[in-house]
Amino acid sequence: MKKILVPIDGSKASQKAAEKAISLAKEFGYEVKFISVVNVPTDDKYAIFGVNVQTAFNANRKEMLKELMEKETKMLNRIIKNLDASDVKVEQVVIAGIPYEEILKVAKEENFDIIVMGRRGFSNIERFFIGSVTQRVIAGSTCPVLVVNE
Ligand SMILES: Nc1ncnc2c1ncn2[C@@H]1O[C@H](COP(=O)(O)OP(=O)(O)O)[C@@H](O)[C@H]1O
Ligand SMILES: [Mg+2]
Repeated sequence: MKKILVPIDGSKASQKAAEKAISLAKEFGYEVKFISVVNVPTDDKYAIFGVNVQTAFNANRKEMLKELMEKETKMLNRIIKNLDASDVKVEQVVIAGIPYEEILKVAKEENFDIIVMGRRGFSNIERFFIGSVTQRVIAGSTCPVLVVNE
């Protein structure tokens, strides 16, 4: 069966993408997998604060990550619950990493037929026509990418 991958960051545009994916799935009999990537801050981000903050950060990294993954899972659950996805096979996954890299990796490794995602996310920097995650996914994807507006 054909499969749609839907990257979700909780933004309005990503919710619209989820709705679009579900309606395509119903019409054409696709399966849908939702993916949320928790963007993990790197060590060097804290380097300017000196060794103490970095050490504290490393000590708390596991705890912090766990909390972020839980929050992300709740967000994803809420979005999926609000969809009318009856009769559609739906899967979900929350991954820690760099968003566009994880999205491209899953799309490739699991042989997705299409990616449906939002044009914008949260940062909404107007000088960029398309969000940077979306730009990078379009640039690196081997399958078609459908970009949905808010
Ligand atoms: N961390 C993430 N996990 C999963 N999908 C994401 C993530 N960040 C962005 N996306 C996807 O990319 C779309 C555009 O977001 P993005 O490129 O980050 O735009 P912006 O720069 O406005 O935040 C979102 O609607 C969502 O589909
Ligand atoms: Mg973003």
